[in-house]
Amino acid sequence: MTRGRFITLEGMDGAGKTTHLDWLRARLEARGMPLIVTREPGGTPLGEALRQLLLDSHDTRNPETEALLMFAARREHLAQVITPALEAGQWVLCDRFTDATYAYQAGGSGMDWHRVAELERWVQGPLQPDLTLYFDVDPEIGQARTRQVRAPDRFEREQQAFYERVRAAYLRRASEHPHRIKVIDAARPIPEIQITLEKIILTI
Ligand code: TMP
Repeated sequence: MTRGRFITLEGMDGAGKTTHLDWLRARLEARGMPLIVTREPGGTPLGEALRQLLLDSHDTRNPETEALLMFAARREHLAQVITPALEAGQWVLCDRFTDATYAYQAGGSGMDWHRVAELERWVQGPLQPDLTLYFDVDPEIGQARTRQVRAPDRFEREQQAFYERVRAAYLRRASEHPHRIKVIDAARPIPEIQITLEKIILTI
């Protein structure tokens, strides 16, 4: 049994990640790939309950606490969903993963970068996505897009400066992992982005 491929999608709120995820799912399914689509935080009953707490709460909290909750949900997600699917030969398309903890809790909220790396090693061992698509957009454009679609959640209400730091952290991750993380200019028209995505997925 060939192991499945693990693909994660990342990007700031409003980068069009959900639209591209739906399109990618359809493309991969059309190619006959056995596929599951999941998300973080979430993907299991515990993870979805933590997601609710994390996204709906109005409390300000310590970024380390947030990261620990993200990694608790992730541990469960890996054990219950991601690893079994990959071992069964399925492809896993995951809306956000550990790069988001680097971007939001370390970059955005100032948690120590190396602490995130320690948690990553502990929770994931050697497991990394085979491919990460990072949809990059200027935070100002991203926030304006988000506001047109729905009311902002707690994370989205944070300041512009926060999003600038989130973006810088994603770009740092991409420069540290250039083979895994593909930076996609999400300000381009959707059909152009789809051409880029098509080329990328043909290579994995
Ligand atoms: P979503 O809007 O893409 O579903 O993501 C939910 C929010 O959770 C988003 O604002 C980013 C945030 N988040 C973190 O802060 N750290 C993480 O590790 C993950 C996975 C998400």
